[in-house]
Amino acid sequence: MTKPATGAPKASGKPSSGAKSAPDTSDPDAGGKPAAAAPAGTPAAGSPTASSPAADKPAAGTIPPSQLTASPGGRAANPLRDPADRRLPRVPEPCALVIFGVTGDLSRKKLIPAIYDLANRDLLPPGFVVLGFARRDWGDGEFEEVAREWAKNGARTQWREDAWERLSENIRFVAGSFDDDEAFDHLAGALKELHDEHGILGNAAFYLSIPPALFPMVLNQLERTKMADSTTSGGWRRVVVEKPFGHDVESSKELNRLVDNVFTADDVFRIDHYLGKETVQNLLALRFANQLFEPVWNAHYVDSVQITMAEDVGIGTRAGFYDKTGTARDVIQNHLLQLLALTAMEEPVSFSSEAIRTEKLKVLHATKIPDDLEHDAIRGQYEQGWLAGQRVPGYLQEKDIPPDSTTETYAAIKLGVQTRRWAGVPFYVRAGKRLPRRVTEIAVLFKRAPHLPFADTDTEALGQNQLVIKVQPDEGMTMKFGSKVPGSAMEVRDVAMDFLYGEAFTESSPEAYERLILDVLIGDATLFPNADEVEASWVVIDALEDYWEGTAPHKYRAGEWGPKAADEMLAREGRTWRRP
Ligand code: BG6
Repeated sequence: MTKPATGAPKASGKPSSGAKSAPDTSDPDAGGKPAAAAPAGTPAAGSPTASSPAADKPAAGTIPPSQLTASPGGRAANPLRDPADRRLPRVPEPCALVIFGVTGDLSRKKLIPAIYDLANRDLLPPGFVVLGFARRDWGDGEFEEVAREWAKNGARTQWREDAWERLSENIRFVAGSFDDDEAFDHLAGALKELHDEHGILGNAAFYLSIPPALFPMVLNQLERTKMADSTTSGGWRRVVVEKPFGHDVESSKELNRLVDNVFTADDVFRIDHYLGKETVQNLLALRFANQLFEPVWNAHYVDSVQITMAEDVGIGTRAGFYDKTGTARDVIQNHLLQLLALTAMEEPVSFSSEAIRTEKLKVLHATKIPDDLEHDAIRGQYEQGWLAGQRVPGYLQEKDIPPDSTTETYAAIKLGVQTRRWAGVPFYVRAGKRLPRRVTEIAVLFKRAPHLPFADTDTEALGQNQLVIKVQPDEGMTMKFGSKVPGSAMEVRDVAMDFLYGEAFTESSPEAYERLILDVLIGDATLFPNADEVEASWVVIDALEDYWEGTAPHKYRAGEWGPKAADEMLAREGRTWRRP
């Protein structure tokens, strides 16, 4: 389908015909009207879905609004609807999502497919618009064509032509570079048009899917054009910042200052996509909804924790970024320290974003690097090797990597959490590229029973009890414990009990970006680290980076589980890495 883009200079002046026609082809339940003119029956203001026509759509198993008794004022009062009920699908208010850097990889692989999946699940309001902004000379409808391909290739849910057709009516493109005032004026104009013609109510989220070096320029433009200003727009204005949030504590503070100057702190959403993963959120359910685990979740019972993020891929085409970054800054500062924080945190007083962030922050402040950095903070770099039957090049042979680079592609660090609960328990975190397979897990390893009333030979095959939270790819949880081997002798051996998301639930897990984009549009910041968390994480990483500066990483062959020094690190303490 082809329709006029809102691209510069076409965006100026009159609303595009696409903008005019869009409401008519949107959700029929909404009568093709923007929410500003929503019919009676719109949920009461103050409810999480207030003024969203789509919010009136019944969730599977709920009663359609048409069958509910109307209140004296003519509004359908839903006696079964409790705003605090988190099981009901949450639908954002009409709004625009502006993506800067929309032609990039993230947008192609994650953002556009996630937006399609949300639309396909009826989780976007009819008055929802995607506005792509990039330096690309795309003409009418070209962005939409490209986006269609991306959505089709990356969608998690089934492809439904009608769902795409509805969404595509609301896809616009503004061409321009970040230093181009005129292009930003056009963008501001396009948002105004959408406000008037499309009923987005002045609501817009700006997604900075761009290199951090360009943040200041884009933020200044958003400030100059008043696009960041919710008072002028009459709706909410939010900004979404992709990692990396700086490259050390100083630069992250600077970045936070910059963003907070233009947007209010509550409107800044820092994406760590690991927090959008279902299994990561399950950590909170597992720990705080059950009675079973809490009594043993401490230094009295836990011997150690191993957090592993292994990837079989190399650095791909990201040489420029990766060589300046390395594993610790790329994934430990954010994903792994967040996993550690969720594993170690105290119970939050509520499930509000503030309460959860407060508890995570305490852990990050209490996280300490090892005294013996030489032996307990190991860096590695892959050499050529074999993976899945294919010969793969070493890091130094990758395109655009300097032959003398000392950037790490693997890191294993022994961290401590200095609190009463965790004193003395090592948290071993490791992450690496070109490891044998892609797997992320958190393994809590328990101490051995203080006394075993068996003959030594009976328990030779008994290891440590383990609780393993499998973040990906086989989402779920495994519990390992000793069990009697059938027979006349008393022989105890490790067995595993598995919970698999794929088997326990019929619904497949949403992609992390689906959840996070939806939360941004709804304004729920629970799954987004705040500035303090980001800075506290950098404090940990900076100390390591300082030590590593000028040292060379250990080598490991692609397809192996990291350098020998990482195995020796655990062996010195009588431990071994779990083989995920
Ligand atoms: C990103 C890192 O944050 O996470 C990448 O920059 C890494 O280097 C990616 O490959 C892994 O994400 P996932 O969801 O595939 O584990």
